[in-house]
Amino acid sequence: MKGILLAGGTGSRLYPLTQVASKQLQPVYDKPMVYYPLTVLIASGIREICLISTPHDLPRFQQLLGDGSRWGVCIEYQEQQEAAGIAQAFLIAEAFIGGEDVALILGDNIFFGGDAFPRAVAEFTSGATIFAYHVSDPERYGVVEFGAEGQALSLEEKPAAPKSNFAVPGVYLYDHDVVEIARGLSPSARGELEITDVNREYLRQGRLRVVRLSRGTAWLDAGTSSSLHEASAYVQTIEKRQGMKLGCPEEAALRRGFLSLAAFEALVAAMPNCEYHDYLHDLAAEVRRVGLTSA
Ligand code: G1P
Repeated sequence: MKGILLAGGTGSRLYPLTQVASKQLQPVYDKPMVYYPLTVLIASGIREICLISTPHDLPRFQQLLGDGSRWGVCIEYQEQQEAAGIAQAFLIAEAFIGGEDVALILGDNIFFGGDAFPRAVAEFTSGATIFAYHVSDPERYGVVEFGAEGQALSLEEKPAAPKSNFAVPGVYLYDHDVVEIARGLSPSARGELEITDVNREYLRQGRLRVVRLSRGTAWLDAGTSSSLHEASAYVQTIEKRQGMKLGCPEEAALRRGFLSLAAFEALVAAMPNCEYHDYLHDLAAEVRRVGLTSA
């Protein structure tokens, strides 16, 4: 399965932070926001990645992430000229997708805990797999309604009167039919090709799987100044307590076997002296001693 990382948008809700650097480049505690969704893709075993952003921000992502080879992955870049909706990503990345299955992750979605994504990628055969997460404010998201047997009944984008508390987070798995489905969409009232309309089409065809994320999974939003601050505080709390970093692509690449221990050590040796370096250096030493543990 290939992966699309969508990091577009103007980030206007974070003004003036986003005047120079886009939302997905803002720090979430000790690393840029985009590191977190990138880590989800790598931890799910996805090696071929297409990052989509605005013409203004794309060069900065290229500067930050390069071609991905340092993590044993391949990152290519495509421009989204204007904010025409999440589903437009499949049209922009059509050549990249080719005939393959594709995961889409939004660059401002931050997840920790659980193994729902690697498992869903490994289990994926066809159709679409999306996720559902219980939230207190479903009206801000795509919302899925479940029937008595746990089957998905309906999907609505930011409904004024949500039919459930289950929001649809910004990670989606599709077969290659998604390109044709996206091509057939009409813009919504807000002028966008809606990802929820793609999911509704799979639901209509009876080819949508909805996986409920357990309460042990954290899904954080970092789209406003206060939620960005809260996400940073959350990451700091967990990292300090556990002595392990969240959203660390180097570590995910090592654990996934995308990098040998020797390549990992060379990567770490090239980093400047900082806390991030020290963490990865200690991790390498631990792996040398006891091998990879399941953390
Ligand atoms: C988008 C999607 C929405 C989804 C959300 C997840 O919302 O349209 O269905 O629940 O991402 O972050 P937006 O980023 O447009 O607010």
